[in-house]
Amino acid sequence: MPEPAGAADAIDPVRLRRAFGMYATGVTIITALHPAQGPVGITANSFSSVSLDPPLLLFSLSRQSFSLQPLLESPGFAVNVLRDGQHELSHRFAAGGREKWSGLAWHEGRHGAPILGGTIAAFECAHHAQYDGGDHVIVLGRVLALDTDAGGEPLLYFHSRYRSIGEEVGPDV
Ligand SMILES: Cc1cc2nc3c(=O)[nH]c(=O)nc-3n(C[C@H](O)[C@H](O)[C@H](O)COP(=O)(O)O)c2cc1C
Repeated sequence: MPEPAGAADAIDPVRLRRAFGMYATGVTIITALHPAQGPVGITANSFSSVSLDPPLLLFSLSRQSFSLQPLLESPGFAVNVLRDGQHELSHRFAAGGREKWSGLAWHEGRHGAPILGGTIAAFECAHHAQYDGGDHVIVLGRVLALDTDAGGEPLLYFHSRYRSIGEEVGPDV
C-alpha cells in the first residue's frame, strides 16, 4: 500500500524542539501536595487557558517526569504563574530531584496544593481529565480558586532564554 505523501519524512525532534521554542510563553510552576510523598512541583510553560464555563486550564507533563505519578495521585494541583525576576525559581523546579523545596517559602492553598510566594497569579485546581499526549500526558484542571496581582509583570520564556516583557505595541484589544 502506498504511504501518504510526507509520511516517511520523520520530523527531526531537535528541529521540532527549536521550532516549538519560537512560541513565546510565560512560565508556571505546577505544584501538588501528595498525601504520602509531600510537595512536588515542576516548571512548565505548556500551560494554557481552556474554558471559562466550566473554568478549565491545561498543561502537559512529560511521562519521564518524577512528578508525574505523585501529581496525578494528588487530589488537585496549583498553577503558580511566575513574576518577572523569578527565573531562579523556574530553574530550581526545572531540575530533577527532591531539593526543589528546601528553604522555599510556600503555604497550603484553600484546596491543599502548595502556593508559592511572590507570583503574579495562582490557580488552584481539581483534576478534571487526562488525555494521551504522546510522550506527555495532557492534564486538564477545573479551577476552584484563583488569586492575581493585576499590576504585576510576568517572567517570559522564548528561544531557551528567560525574558522580561517589552514595550506595548498596537491598540487595546
Ligand atoms: C521553561 C521551562 C518549561 C518547561 N515546561 C515543561 C512542561 O510544560 N512540561 C514538562 O513536563 N516539563 C517541562 N519542563 C521540564 C521540567 O521542568 C523538568 O523536566 C523537571 O526536571 C521535571 O522535574 P521532575 O522530574 O522532578 O518531575 C520545562 C522546563 C523549563 C526550563
